Amino acid sequence: MKGIGLLFFASGAVYGMGGMALGIWMGTAHDFTLAPAHAHLNLLGFVTMALMGVFYHVTPSAAARFLSRLHFGLATVGLWLMVPGIAFSATGGNPGMAIVGSLLTAAAMLTFLVNLALTAFGPVRSARALPC
Ligand code: HEM
Repeated sequence: MKGIGLLFFASGAVYGMGGMALGIWMGTAHDFTLAPAHAHLNLLGFVTMALMGVFYHVTPSAAARFLSRLHFGLATVGLWLMVPGIAFSATGGNPGMAIVGSLLTAAAMLTFLVNLALTAFGPVRSARALPC
């Protein structure tokens, strides 16, 4: 695995590590206020990013498009705003950061959907012309 697939997968592992560390902290401190932030860091950060990594690894034509890089950028910035935003909101703060993060996260999924549609229904490209 290399390229954008690896980038998604490696990011997922780092976020998974962070999500688990937060879960361990919550368990030992018996303070579950940040449970929604923990859940979103694990599910969007680890599960979704890793799943996208597998998709781009097995679909080189989609990985080769600029959309895959745009997808990664939107997903990353969205997560970095959304998870701290949820934590901020869960502790009584303004939910604005979580809202902006969630919109960017949804935009990332829309980018993925467009890339997927182009892969499924777009012009067929020669496998030899694609980077490995
Ligand atoms: C070392 C690993 C993990 C630890 C120690 C841990 C710990 C916790 C704790 C203490 C809670 C709060 C439970 C409560 O409110 O009663 C929680 C909730 C949750 N965790 Fe984890 N967790 C871990 C990994 C994961 C992973 C890998 C995922 C998903 C892929 C996940 C998803 C969730 C979800 C969805 C909730 C419920 C959140 C909510 O109620 O708002 N956790 N976890």
